[in-house]
Order: sequence, then C-alpha cells, then structure tokens
Amino acid sequence: MRVVSGIQPTGNLHLGNYLGAIRNWVRMQDEIAAGGEDDAQCLFFLADLHAISMPHVPAQLRAGTLEMAAALVACGIDPARSILFNQAQVPQHAELQWLLSGTARMGWLNRMTQWKDKAGKNREGQSVALFTYPVLQAADVLLYQATHVPVGEDQTQHLEFARDIAQKFNNDFAAEDAPVFTLPEAITPPAAARIMSLRDGSAKMSKSDSSDMSRIELADDAETVMKKIRKAKTDPDPLPSEPAGLDGRPEALNLVTIHAAITGASVEQVLIDHGGQGFGPFKTALGEALVETLRPISAELQRLLDDRAALGTILASGADRARELAVPTLENAYRALGLVRR
Ligand code: TYM
Repeated sequence: MRVVSGIQPTGNLHLGNYLGAIRNWVRMQDEIAAGGEDDAQCLFFLADLHAISMPHVPAQLRAGTLEMAAALVACGIDPARSILFNQAQVPQHAELQWLLSGTARMGWLNRMTQWKDKAGKNREGQSVALFTYPVLQAADVLLYQATHVPVGEDQTQHLEFARDIAQKFNNDFAAEDAPVFTLPEAITPPAAARIMSLRDGSAKMSKSDSSDMSRIELADDAETVMKKIRKAKTDPDPLPSEPAGLDGRPEALNLVTIHAAITGASVEQVLIDHGGQGFGPFKTALGEALVETLRPISAELQRLLDDRAALGTILASGADRARELAVPTLENAYRALGLVRR
C-alpha cells in the first residue's frame, strides 16, 4: 500500500481541504502505522510546482509553503511516520512530467473541467503550466507507485487522467508482466467529498474565492468561526427531518453535511436531532462543534509557526526520503522510452 497526495500551498488550509482530504490523510497514516506492513508508506507533499501555474507572488509562495507544512502537521500528519515534503525539492516530479508528456493526449487535457473552469473564456491567455497541470499531477503519484490517493471529489477527474496515462504508457512501452506504473485509485470520503461555499451552496469552498466569509479556515479563532457560520447563507424554512427534505436546498444540505462530518454522525442522525429547528439554534450547535474541533489544531499551528527553521528541516529530510523512493521508477521510465542513461 502506497498512499500519496498533495495540496497547493496557496492561501490557508480551509474546512473543505480538511474534511475532503487531510482528515483522510491522517486516518490512512494512522491505519498504516497500526497495520505494521513493512513497505506500506504515506507520502504527502506541498504542490508548489503546481502553484506557479497561476499568477503568484514569490515571497507569498515561499512563506505559504512553510505555513501549509505547519498546518498539515497541526492536523496530525506526523513527519516521523509519513514523508512530508515539497515538490520543488524533488526534481524527479518535473522530470517524470516531461516523460509522461509524450503519452498524455491534448484531447484528454482539453476535457479537464478544472482547466475549463480556471481558464474560462481566456484560454489563449493562460500559462502552458495550467493546461499541462494534470500531467504533473499524474507524475506526482505515478513516481511513487501510489495505490491510494485520498482527495476531494474535485480531483477525481485528474486521478482518472493519471490512470489513463499509466495504462497507455504501460501498453506502449512496458512488457505485459513488468508494468512501469501502478494504476492509482482515488479515495474520497463518502460524506464530505465536496464541501460548498458558505455564501453559495452551488460553488465549492475554495481558497480562491474572493470572500473570506465563504470559507472557514483552520486558523480562524472561535469568534470568527461563530460569525461565519451565523452569517452563512440559508433559506427561510426550518430543517427537515429526513435527507429527502434537503433536495433543492444546497445551503441547508451543506451545513448539515459539515455538521455530520465534524461530529461523526450520519446526515440522517443530524436531521433526527435537529429536524424542525430553525437555522438559528442549528448554527449555534454547528459553530460550537467546529470550534471544539479546530481549537487544538489552531493552537498547535501557532506553536509550529514559531519555529520556521524546524519546518524547513522537516521538508528537507522528507525530500531526501522521497527522492530515494522516486529514482527507481524514474529510471525505469527513461529506459522504457529508449532514452540512454548511464
Ligand atoms: P487543492 O490544493 O485544491 O486541495 C487539496 C485537497 O483538498 C480537497 N478539497 C476539497 N474537498 C472537499 N470540498 C472542498 N470544497 C475542497 N476543496 C479542496 C481537494 O480535492 C484536494 O484533495 N491538484 C491538487 C493538488 C495535487 C494533488 C497531486 C492531489 C497536486 N498533485 C497529486 C493528489 C495527488 C489541488 O490543487 O488540490
């Protein structure tokens, strides 16, 4: 079992990242540690190379990379048990991306919904990196023979793309009994694969939303969390007693989903407990549950941010370990393509 996943170090970690992905990273890390399987390994990285596909400020990227590393550790990623690093210190990611670019097809990239969403009507004005972004993402996981990739729902199309590349590369360049790449599987949480904006139940919660009120950040203090939940958009009806009553009510569905994910209850149970209530009392209960969950994380985050040198050391030693795991697969890929190496 090889678990691999990444996050862009732009902006702060938000509740969508946490419930959709990071919490699963921590669970899988803990399960692997408990299972005692010798060669099972988790690799988690900051996708700083992906972050340069959009306009960015270098000083912010540099600071954001250390801050995101701190946030992951605060959430429970343990650098002693998982390999935590940033892509830029493991050049094999960019190398494999180029090798895979011969296999990736323009048509596949043209179909990517994230490309279409981010480029909008201005495709000609986008960076080449934004278009080829999924090829780098495929390299990120194929480089380590990832078997499981815990992500939110918005990344599953990119994972399908990585499988397509792996399959085609193996077919075209590897012997049937000696594939170069493992086909990775996306792991999405059943309940919280897609957390929506607090201002608009039809848009996902996102770092790039211009409104701070649209997302809860893991570093938000208690007062801010309560305010954002109190002001979250809702409709005038009380909460239904059954999930079917949430149809056509995206904002209500989102708040109930968050409540369920945070407390570990099912959506059915949340509605049994709160059905018939107006949003006032429900929001208070939800805000309090969130504050309880986030309090220890944000306290630990503040502590870690006080020692940036230690964060730099964690990333450097993670990168050393990642490079070691990456080299054999990269060499196999070079050789399979007929490229001469010494
Ligand atoms: P990124 O940085 O946008 O998000 C990190 C993780 O958080 C999940 N996520 C969400 N889940 C539920 N609801 C939401 N509103 C929400 N918003 C974000 C994402 O699905 C993701 O799992 N391209 C990736 C980073 C990446 C990567 C990889 C991931 C680069 N290489 C290889 C996996 C494997 C990205 O931009 O995620």
